Amino acid sequence: MTSDPHIQVAREGAVQSIRFDRADKKNAITRSMYAAMTSALHEAEADDAMRAHLFLGQPGVFSSGNDVQDFMAFAMSGEMGTEVLEFLHTLARLTKPVVSAVDGLAIGIGTTIHMHCDLTFATPRSLFKTPFVDLALVPEAGSSLLAPASMSHQRAFAMLAMGEDFSAQDAVDAGLIYKLVEESDLEAKAMAAASALAEKPPVALSIAKRLMKAAPDTLIERIDEEATHFATQLKSDEAKAAFMQFMARKKG
Ligand code: COA
Repeated sequence: MTSDPHIQVAREGAVQSIRFDRADKKNAITRSMYAAMTSALHEAEADDAMRAHLFLGQPGVFSSGNDVQDFMAFAMSGEMGTEVLEFLHTLARLTKPVVSAVDGLAIGIGTTIHMHCDLTFATPRSLFKTPFVDLALVPEAGSSLLAPASMSHQRAFAMLAMGEDFSAQDAVDAGLIYKLVEESDLEAKAMAAASALAEKPPVALSIAKRLMKAAPDTLIERIDEEATHFATQLKSDEAKAAFMQFMARKKG
């Protein structure tokens, strides 16, 4: 299995959890972290003993999204790497149920990942935000297809193009996530849901999931189309300026 110290993979019963563990960088996701997640997801998909996936973060932060330093490195080298796309393709093709638990910040892919989940629980203090356009980037992870379909064009536009903050309650109201739970109950509730799903007849559950979601090939086509624009925009002067601004903010 490809591993990374900032991705903790654990198995409890028939549930495999993937936890972001890079709190000092607000769980920003690096190429190596994507690779570790892809590897873990493939292993659980291939293992009959595993019946559900669970994504977890840290207290106060699920993820601040793609590592901005990696964005800058992509922008300068012109080389995107394959890790992000491989992760997104894997996510789009998962056949087993996916549960996620959010407490606090969920930015960029920290938000769009939940569009691929089947049940997301979040604490009331959570915040969902996708500042793609402010970074001179475009929606990713199939979100340009999934968000308008689930929350209407205008709410999706507010999220993906305006970069508006969505509170946890806004996210429930928009249909982005399933339910609010208190911080003290978050992981237990998410694990209980994943475990309950893991007890269901697996073939029926996997067919039900597939019937309810966009066809994986259609979704992957959109993920690839977004990625083409994303890669072009990453190299643009306006994107480089936005990344520099973020990094300079840190030095100041
Ligand atoms: N990529 C790389 N590093 C990140 C990061 C990211 N996406 N998000 C946070 N970090 C780092 C910061 O640079 C900082 O590192 P340092 O302590 O070495 O300087 C550390 O994590 C803590 O972040 P900080 O900004 O000090 O915390 P905050 O509570 O003031 O703000 C955020 C948290 C998440 C709101 C803010 O860091 C942010 O806006 N991050 C960028 C989010 C983003 O644009 N993601 C890409 C989406 S497409």
